[in-house]
Amino acid sequence: MSNYHIKNLEEYYQIYRKSTRDPENFWSEVAEEHFLWRRKWDQVLQWDFEKPEVKWFEGAKLNITENCIDRHLLTKGDKTAILWEPNDPAEDAQHISYQELYQRVNRFANVLKSKGIKMGDRVCIYLPMIPELAISVLACARIGAIHSVVFAGFSSTALSTRINDASCKMVITSDGSYRGSKTIDLKGIVDEALEKCECVESVLVAKRINSDIDMKEGRDHWLQPLLDKADDQCQPEVMDAEDPLFILYTSGSTGTPKGMLHTCGGYMVYTAYTFKNIFQYKDQEVYWCTADIGWITGHSYIVYGPLANGATTLMFEGVPSYPDFGRFWEIVEKHKVNQFYTAPTAIRALAKEKLDYVNKYDLSSLKVLGTVGEPINEEAWHWYNDNVGKGQAPIVDTWWQTETGGIMISPIPYATPTIPTYATLPLPGVQLALMDEKGEEIKGNLVSGRLCVKFPWPSMARTIWGNHERYRDTYFSAFKGKYFTGDGAMRDAVGYYRITGRVDDVVIVSGHNLGTAPIEDAINEHPAVAESAIVGFPHEVKGNALYGFIILKEVGETRDRANLRKEINQQITEHIGPIAKLDKIQFVPGLPKTRSGKIMRRILRKIASDDTSNLGDISTLLNPEVVRQIMDEKID
Ligand code: PRX
Repeated sequence: MSNYHIKNLEEYYQIYRKSTRDPENFWSEVAEEHFLWRRKWDQVLQWDFEKPEVKWFEGAKLNITENCIDRHLLTKGDKTAILWEPNDPAEDAQHISYQELYQRVNRFANVLKSKGIKMGDRVCIYLPMIPELAISVLACARIGAIHSVVFAGFSSTALSTRINDASCKMVITSDGSYRGSKTIDLKGIVDEALEKCECVESVLVAKRINSDIDMKEGRDHWLQPLLDKADDQCQPEVMDAEDPLFILYTSGSTGTPKGMLHTCGGYMVYTAYTFKNIFQYKDQEVYWCTADIGWITGHSYIVYGPLANGATTLMFEGVPSYPDFGRFWEIVEKHKVNQFYTAPTAIRALAKEKLDYVNKYDLSSLKVLGTVGEPINEEAWHWYNDNVGKGQAPIVDTWWQTETGGIMISPIPYATPTIPTYATLPLPGVQLALMDEKGEEIKGNLVSGRLCVKFPWPSMARTIWGNHERYRDTYFSAFKGKYFTGDGAMRDAVGYYRITGRVDDVVIVSGHNLGTAPIEDAINEHPAVAESAIVGFPHEVKGNALYGFIILKEVGETRDRANLRKEINQQITEHIGPIAKLDKIQFVPGLPKTRSGKIMRRILRKIASDDTSNLGDISTLLNPEVVRQIMDEKID
C-alpha cells in the first residue's frame, strides 16, 4: 500500500492510524519515496512545544525548486506547469511548460543575484496575479532568499509595515495591475510605501499595463531588460531542511501583523502530500485554485504543492465578476478544469446572480470542488454542489491556516463521505484535540471545544519573524503542550469535525455557548437573505445578546422589514432554538471585509456595542466606506 495516495476510506483509516502510531516513520517514508534530497536527514523530528521548537528532517539538504521544476524536466518538460489566464478574456492565455518555467526561474534568479540578493536576504513581492509572481517566488527559493509576498490589494501603509518588519532588501512590483475594468497604480503605492522604508536597496518593475510611471534612478529597474541579459542556468542553492523558505503575514486579533516563518523541507513534503490526496490529481489534469498567491492558499496550492507533483496549475489574473458573473465558469469550460478550489465568499457572491451564468457553460470536466478560508454555510454548499458540480463532484471543505502551511482537516474526495459544513477528518499525521475552558482535553465524540493540535506536523510555521515570544504566547500558552488554533470545533458521532468559527466569535447568551456560524447558516437559508454576520453585544439580563447585520438579496429589498425580522428569527428558532434569536436586526448594504473576503467581526462587535471610539485601522478593508453607513443606521 502506498502511503502517498489514499484511494478509499478504509485506506484512509489505515494510513491515519499508521501516521499517528509512528509519525516519524510515516513522514520519513513519504519524504524518502517522493522527493529529491541532496542529503538525507539525520533525524526525522525534534520537538518541544514548551520552548516551542520544532525541526523536521534535520541535517537534510534540498532545494524546493529542484523538486518543483528540475526533476520533472525529463518526463514532463513539455507539459504545462503554469496555465495563466489573463484578466481580459480577449487576451491570450499563456501555457508555460516545465522547461520554460525552468529557464524563466533561472533567469530571474540570476537577476536577483546580480542585484546583490543572497541566501537569507528578504525580498518583498508586491505583484498582481501575473506569471512573474509565481516565477519570482520560485526564483527567491532557488537562491535561498526568503520571499515575503504581500497581497497587491494592500495599501502603502500595510506594505511599508511588512517591508520594515522583515527588513526587505528588495521589492518586486509592476507598473500597475488590472482588476476587472479598473487599473491600479501599484508602482505609485510602492513609491509611497518606500518613503518609510530605509532597508530597500532596489526595486524590480515588471511591465503589465504600460503606464507612465516614475522610476527612481539607481533604485528602480525595469525587469525585462535584466531578464533578457540573464543566463538561463542557475544552480540551486543547497538548503538545510530547516532553513527559512518564506515569511507570510497574517493579522492577529490584536497588534501588528504576524510574519509567519515557514521552512523548506517539511513545508515541501506536507504541501505536496496534501495536494495529491485532497485534489486526487492525475497526470494531464488541469487544477485551478482561485486564490491570490498573496495568501497562504496561493503559496501552498497554486505554487508549491501542485508543482511539486508535476501538475498543471491554473493562475487567474482577474475577478469572478468581469466581464460578467460567468467568468469562472467560462474558464472552467475553456481549459477543461478538473479540480476547482475557491472560497465560500466567492460562492455566495456568485449564488446571488442568475443561474444562467453557470448553466451556459460545460462544467463536466470538474471532478473535485474545494472550499477554504471560512465556514461554508449549507445554502452555499448546496448551490455549489448542485449547480457547479451537478452532484457529481465531491466538495472538499478544507480547514487550515496561514500558520499550518497546509490543509489539516478535509475529506479525501471519493473516499470520505461528505456532509455540508463539515470539514470532516484530519489528514494523516494531524493529531487533533478539543479542549475545554479549564484546559482539559475533551475525549469521545459528540463534543465541542477549542481546537488544538497535539503533535507537530511538517509544515507548521516555526516562529513569528523577529518575535518568538509572541509565537509562543499566541499559539502555545493557552493549552500546555498543544498548538492552539484559535478556532472552536465540534466532533460528531463518527469523529467528523465541524469548525464553528473563531473562538472569539463565540457568544455566551444566558449562559449558552453559541457559535455565530451556525446562526448565520440558518439565517442565510432564508430566501431573502444574501449574507449575514452575527455578533454579541452586552445585555443587562442575558449577559450578551445577538445583533445581526444582514444583506438582503433583491427579492427582499422591497419587503416589509418588520415581517422579515420576524421570519428571520423564526428561521433561527427552527434551526437552532429560541435561545439563538437575534435581539437586533439591521439590514445593511454590505459587510466590512478584509481583502481576502473575511468579515471583520471585530468592527461589527464594536458598532453593536456602541464602542466606536477606536475602530482601529480600517483603511486596509475591502470596503471601508460601508463602516460609516452601518454606524449611521445602527439600531438602538
Ligand atoms: O477560522 C479558520 C478559518 O480561517 C482561519 C485561518 O485563516 P488564514 O490564516 O487567513 O488562512 C485561510 C486559508 C487557509 C482559520 O483559523 N478557516 C479556514 N478554513 C476554514 C475555516 N473555517 C471554517 N472552515 C474552513 N474550511
